[in-house]
Amino acid sequence: MSVAYGIHDLSVATGSRVLALDLLAEYSGIDPDKFRLGLGQERLSVLAPDEDIVTMAAAAALPIIERHGSDDIRAVLFATESGIDQSKSAAVFVHELLGLPRTCRVVEFKQACYGGTAALQAALGMVAREPGSRVLVIASDVARYALDSAAEATQGAAAVALLVSADPALVAVEPAAGVWTADIDDFWRPNDSDTALVDGRLSVDTYLAAVVGSWDDYRARGGVDVADIDLFCHHQPYTRMAHKALRALAAHTGTEIDEARVAPSTVYNRQIGNSYTASLFLSLAAVLDGDDDLTGRRVGLYSYGSGATGEFLAVSVQPGYRAHTRAAATLAALAARTPIDIATYRSLHAGATHRSAVDTEIAPASDGPFRFRGITGRARHYERV
Ligand code: CAA
Repeated sequence: MSVAYGIHDLSVATGSRVLALDLLAEYSGIDPDKFRLGLGQERLSVLAPDEDIVTMAAAAALPIIERHGSDDIRAVLFATESGIDQSKSAAVFVHELLGLPRTCRVVEFKQACYGGTAALQAALGMVAREPGSRVLVIASDVARYALDSAAEATQGAAAVALLVSADPALVAVEPAAGVWTADIDDFWRPNDSDTALVDGRLSVDTYLAAVVGSWDDYRARGGVDVADIDLFCHHQPYTRMAHKALRALAAHTGTEIDEARVAPSTVYNRQIGNSYTASLFLSLAAVLDGDDDLTGRRVGLYSYGSGATGEFLAVSVQPGYRAHTRAAATLAALAARTPIDIATYRSLHAGATHRSAVDTEIAPASDGPFRFRGITGRARHYERV
């Protein structure tokens, strides 16, 4: 009998602050419906000074370690496009904060928002090669654009940790996957820039070209027809983009696809904003946490990373999965965020980057289980609270 491999556990963390987009609309003199209806966004998570991709990642992974232990974890694959060091992987910090075994690989994956899916595929290969092993995949990002830019409303922050194993409790990843890659300057962040640069229109067009391209490759490699996919999770820079992708697939395949097949995936992203690598897995969390019993259903996943790469794959929801989801914890994390006003948001945005050349001590500012303590000797330091 063939063994199924996939996602055994999934846990979400986000920033401790939240900005309502109605406030941003009012401040910027923009109709709030542009954000609410045009982009499909209501709020965006903002990080406190003692939070970053590492603290969010460790906070997302901690409940997984508490539930399953860490003995069999053979790798931490950390996907991000908000890297904090050009050399040292953010996975090393998380490995230490979680007290994981020395006998564990650590590495960082980067290809814009696509990195989490690349890490998931690598993890599936690792667990298949070493029976009984498990791999922690963590996608963690903070989406930051320049203040007063068109992209500002599409910021956000979150981490999703996935425990990848054989005989998964949540979803099995099906073998067929389709990919599409082209060198396109639609969105990027040069090494000397704290915020991303983006050609908004081109990024939307490339996202849609990649959904069609990766879909065709998915079908050519044995992937099922649109009619056999029950729900869709698409990368969500903003939630309306997932609907645009569905419409592009419908037009390309000449199929009618009910928008209700993508709507359940938008529940968390609408409240968190873009979380780059984590966004797709947040949408999967929302689908699994929904009211409907999805046992045996197939969910299509479309991952997009600017620059640009797309991948289409599918997962099947496992019997008994509902005993393993974490809806209450995710809703609690969303509700625990402190609402901030525009002045606070702008000051947090302006102070988000800490240059390593200056020793910095960061005062406690959030209530999470891990915090960024500061920088000495050009090295970053973290602690478990
Ligand atoms: N009421 C209702 N809807 C309104 C409205 C109103 N008052 N005003 C505008 N809208 C609608 C518009 O009609 C438009 O809808 P369509 O997309 O269906 O045409 C939508 O709101 C957005 O309006 P604009 O196109 O005028 O918005 P914009 O040009 O000012 O900015 C954006 C939109 C280009 C996406 C910008 O937010 C941006 O650059 N964001 C960052 C890049 C991004 O997210 N790209 C997505 C693909 S790339 C990717 O996915 C990778 C990634 O994570 C970054």
